[in-house]
Amino acid sequence: MNAKVNITNRAGASFPVRRMQFDFNNVPEYWMDGSAGLTHFMTALSALFPAGEKFFIDSVRAVRQHPAIKDNEALQKEISGFIGQEAMHTHEHANFNASAQKFGHDVDCLEQYTHTAIQSFRKSAAFMGKPFGITQQMIDLIGTTALEHFTATIASELLRNEHIQALMTDETMKTMWLWHAVEENEHKAVAYDVFENVFGKGVKAYVARTGGLALAMVVLFLVQSYFVARLLKEDNQLNIESLKDIYTYGYSPSKGIISGMGKEMLAYFKPGFHPNDLDTVSLLEHWKAKLGF
Ligand SMILES: [Fe+2]
Ligand SMILES: [Fe+2]
Repeated sequence: MNAKVNITNRAGASFPVRRMQFDFNNVPEYWMDGSAGLTHFMTALSALFPAGEKFFIDSVRAVRQHPAIKDNEALQKEISGFIGQEAMHTHEHANFNASAQKFGHDVDCLEQYTHTAIQSFRKSAAFMGKPFGITQQMIDLIGTTALEHFTATIASELLRNEHIQALMTDETMKTMWLWHAVEENEHKAVAYDVFENVFGKGVKAYVARTGGLALAMVVLFLVQSYFVARLLKEDNQLNIESLKDIYTYGYSPSKGIISGMGKEMLAYFKPGFHPNDLDTVSLLEHWKAKLGF
């Protein structure tokens, strides 16, 4: 493996925290098979992670001492593991984002934009929810639970989609994305379990979490697409070839990573849904063995 890895499980969760140390110095500019379109598509996702995953950590931390879960020893261990994994993802993505800066791709600015967008969105949502008894903590947890479903789903799709894997021609970047994908599936139930324990399984909780997912997906699509367009434009690569690559491997029915997510994304709308209903156990075993975890 082309990264230093230190695996610990001090929290005693059902999954470990892998401290990775990737060296991004030799990652080529267009590391997705030489395609500017696909590289910027992935970089736009990466730009969302530092502020996004910090938001997930903060949201779960804010309710950690809630009476409904304070003494739930097993869930507390899972929360610690979740925080540990997300903190490592933030760290490595921030390092990659900083390394892309040397090619003139201003990912730093997109990270700042993500932070501002999250903060203004969560505060406005809490303001609008106040008359209905919806608190800031609930808004944050609804958003986190929805976005964790998205990350787990895009991650399992990445672990299955051989077209995308074949395009990841740079070993460092491939390992980073696959490591992140494995861990998103290992901890996919944590935010959901916290949400359910704190806010219950009633009609109000159902409407909140499904409405939250629908809204989060619209915002995420708009922000990520804006980031891609901006990276491409600043790089003078906003052309048919780039857009064709993004369509083929992002959105086309046969090869697209986003279009492949449809069924699993919709499962979230089933009353009584739980993230572990989507079985990724053997998929994770396969990849953990392959990555030497
Ligand atoms: Fe993550
Ligand atoms: Fe996550």
